Amino acid sequence: IPKGEALVQAILDLKKEKNAIILAHYYQTADIQVISDFLGDSLQLAREAKNTDADMIVFCGVHFMAEAAKILNPTKKVVLPDLQAGCSLADGCSGEGLREMRAKHPNALIATYINCNAETKAESDIIVTSSNAEVIIESLPKDRPIIFAPDKNLGKYLSKKTGREMILWDGSCIVHEAFSMERIAKQLAENPGAKLIAHPESETAVLDLAHFIGSTSALLSYVENDDCQKFIVATEEGILHEMKKRAPQKELIPALVFDESCNCSECFYMKRNTLEKLYLCMKYELPEITMNEELRLKALKPIEAMLEMSK
Ligand code: 13P
Ligand code: SF4
Repeated sequence: IPKGEALVQAILDLKKEKNAIILAHYYQTADIQVISDFLGDSLQLAREAKNTDADMIVFCGVHFMAEAAKILNPTKKVVLPDLQAGCSLADGCSGEGLREMRAKHPNALIATYINCNAETKAESDIIVTSSNAEVIIESLPKDRPIIFAPDKNLGKYLSKKTGREMILWDGSCIVHEAFSMERIAKQLAENPGAKLIAHPESETAVLDLAHFIGSTSALLSYVENDDCQKFIVATEEGILHEMKKRAPQKELIPALVFDESCNCSECFYMKRNTLEKLYLCMKYELPEITMNEELRLKALKPIEAMLEMSK
């Protein structure tokens, strides 16, 4: 494996040679973010994957995101630098579990967060991301109960925002639930004038302190456009790279987590991808995301319903 600048050049050469596109999430390491062709949140990445005419989609994110790219654009080869790049939300929910919930609540609509696997998507009526969840939930028929899976924190937040009652799946993001309300309250007290911004996967106690709540792309726009000069950021630390780039004059303070030996919050699933693994996966076109066609078509339906409702 080449090293340093040669490694970056080798990736760029492979990209040209194979007519590949590198899609990256804001939580990837900075070296991957800067080499990517497109950097975005879950919804933006899904849209980009659907519309690309590259031959190979190299997905620098977690498994469910690469899987969504394959569902949306099946004729393209989709590769992910590390197949173990999972997600605690996706890993904790299953199609079988949703079928059981539907059997208990036959009149309910199942709205599922995009952070789930294809089998789970296939059992859902509609998919949402943190960028479009509120608008979509608000437009669901009022006479049907809503089952929301797998993120109970996002579900509680949406239920409060929209006034819709929800039957919640008991799942959470291990990264966002690690934020400590007590330590963050202390950070706010020590930084008068600072605003707390948080991703809605955080627990209610943290969200209750927040001045602004939003998806990764919404948090970025907020920091860029708001007059405030100091922000405490309650989401995965990878986002700070793009935030600093967009608002270089502002002070960004990572929100503190329960573990006092830790100064910021990392998603170890996202961080399984490295520049070396990116190079290898482009060179050997492995590991590849594959899926049986019947499952793909079932999972596509609720994703298409989402794209239709969040144009
Ligand atoms: P966004 O869609 O806001 O980028 O969130 C993705 C994610 O995994 C947050 O933990
Ligand atoms: Fe999943 Fe949380 Fe990591 Fe996002 S930050 S990929 S929700 S484990």
